[in-house]
Amino acid sequence: MAAIGTDLDKVTGILDKGGLVAIPTETVYGLAAKATNEEAVLRIFKAKNRPSFDPLICHTDSLEKIMAMVKNVSNSAHKLASHFWPGPLTLLLPKDPMIPDLVTSGLPTVAVRIPRHAMTLDLLSRIDYPLAAPSANPFGYISPTRPQHVADQLGEEVDYILDGGDAQVGVESTIVSVTDEGLVVHRLGGLSVEEIEDVAGSKAYLSINNSSNPSAPGMLKSHYAPKSPLVIGDIPALLEKYKDRRVGVLSFEKAYATGNEQQFVLSRTGDLAEAAKNLFSALRTMDYASLDVILAEFVPDQGLGRAVNDRLRRAAVK
Ligand code: TXA
Ligand code: MG
Repeated sequence: MAAIGTDLDKVTGILDKGGLVAIPTETVYGLAAKATNEEAVLRIFKAKNRPSFDPLICHTDSLEKIMAMVKNVSNSAHKLASHFWPGPLTLLLPKDPMIPDLVTSGLPTVAVRIPRHAMTLDLLSRIDYPLAAPSANPFGYISPTRPQHVADQLGEEVDYILDGGDAQVGVESTIVSVTDEGLVVHRLGGLSVEEIEDVAGSKAYLSINNSSNPSAPGMLKSHYAPKSPLVIGDIPALLEKYKDRRVGVLSFEKAYATGNEQQFVLSRTGDLAEAAKNLFSALRTMDYASLDVILAEFVPDQGLGRAVNDRLRRAAVK
């Protein structure tokens, strides 16, 4: 079982040698390896049981280091980068050959971001290579927002878990490209579409597709899924329908009179950022309780609420 700790010297030693380290970010924990070491990157795919057609995000700590990983950054991409980094924004940019094709699943673009987490920024400043890091969960399962979540499922796979506390945003980064065709959002996430549109000065096209060979392949229809079935709808009606079953209830701001089953209110004050922050750990806690069914409701479909609803929808697909 991997140790959980804060020893950055140990972490850089492991990464230099091609090992795997779980790293904290503001969105979710990542399963990181040296992006320029193909063997290390292969270990990521293996540990997660992730299909090779699903490319990885590269993380670093400065725009200067990003420039080495990409062929160019358009003015509009640069505008978003300088406004939102460090932060929960991932940009798709034309890939430089220094990034192995394995990382991008052969795509001509590479996904890059500068995460907003002090400990991880410190780590990234100590190394001269980017870290390829998907979320540190088995493929298709709920993303981890705490060190213990990683230990629970990938504790034997990783060499070390860097403890940066609870993830503050709680859902993955928003993935964006800006090309001649305009601003495209490929995954809803921890930075709202509205904020991005404000800074870009244009409307975004949502390319949140569901096919089995998608352009943002992590966007498979079923994802972020607990083992217990998740049903979304009107909670009082669902409670009636499932009254003989062991149910969990995941509601937005209001608790329901439900008896003694598991219940989690995402935000008592109706704050969408708080709801996003709590979503994955709430789903996980309920899943660990091995319920017959988890009942959930959508949150208001605006700001970070759109990312929350997107994750709920995918978690409900079996
Ligand atoms: O917040 C996050 O983004 C977290 C933290 C650890 O940074 N990472 C994360 O990685 O969510 P992952 O691997 O779980 O999701 C990455 C997504 C996948 O849906 C993948 O298909 C997409 O990014 N992606 C990566 N490279 C791409 C590319 N070149 N073109 C289109 N989509 C890409
Ligand atoms: Mg993921």
